[in-house]
Amino acid sequence: MGQEALEAAIRHWRGEPPRPRSHESRLVCKCFAVTEEQIVKAIRENGLTSVEEVTNYTKAGGGCGDCHEDIAGILEAVLNRGTSPLRGGIADLRPPSPKGSRLSNIQRMQKVMTILEDVIRPRLLQDGGDIELVDIDGKVVTVALLGLCASCPSSRLTVEGFVQQTLRDAIEPDLIVKEATP
Ligand code: FES
Repeated sequence: MGQEALEAAIRHWRGEPPRPRSHESRLVCKCFAVTEEQIVKAIRENGLTSVEEVTNYTKAGGGCGDCHEDIAGILEAVLNRGTSPLRGGIADLRPPSPKGSRLSNIQRMQKVMTILEDVIRPRLLQDGGDIELVDIDGKVVTVALLGLCASCPSSRLTVEGFVQQTLRDAIEPDLIVKEATP
């Protein structure tokens, strides 16, 4: 995860506003404070061709998903797919899984792992804790708290108030997060 993306993720989950930008580049992803200019740069410099790749490089689109269409439009414009003979078609530009649509088990697992790794773990590590994914069964996610979190009297609050709510906000509103029984 790039430094900028990591900072944006931490600011987002702390509830802090995005870092002010030094120029007027349009904000595309509100969840991770990623601008159009950053997305265009990532596409050009890394040869990105799909929304998923843009998310992997910049984190844009890794939260609520509301910006997926916008990212697809930027990809379309940058790659000039409307006229290029090399274009692979619009299908691979479509958002992988807009919020509200049904996710396959694989899509859900990938999203849960991404949010756990990129957003939730960094936050818990800051407080001397950690988290491990134990299992995903449908919409039930089982995790184990580690480090200081494991012995914290408010571990239930961490699981339900922070981990579950973060995953619900970012992926699906009816996800359930349970703590693994020792
Ligand atoms: S606005 Fe981009 S993921 Fe939420």
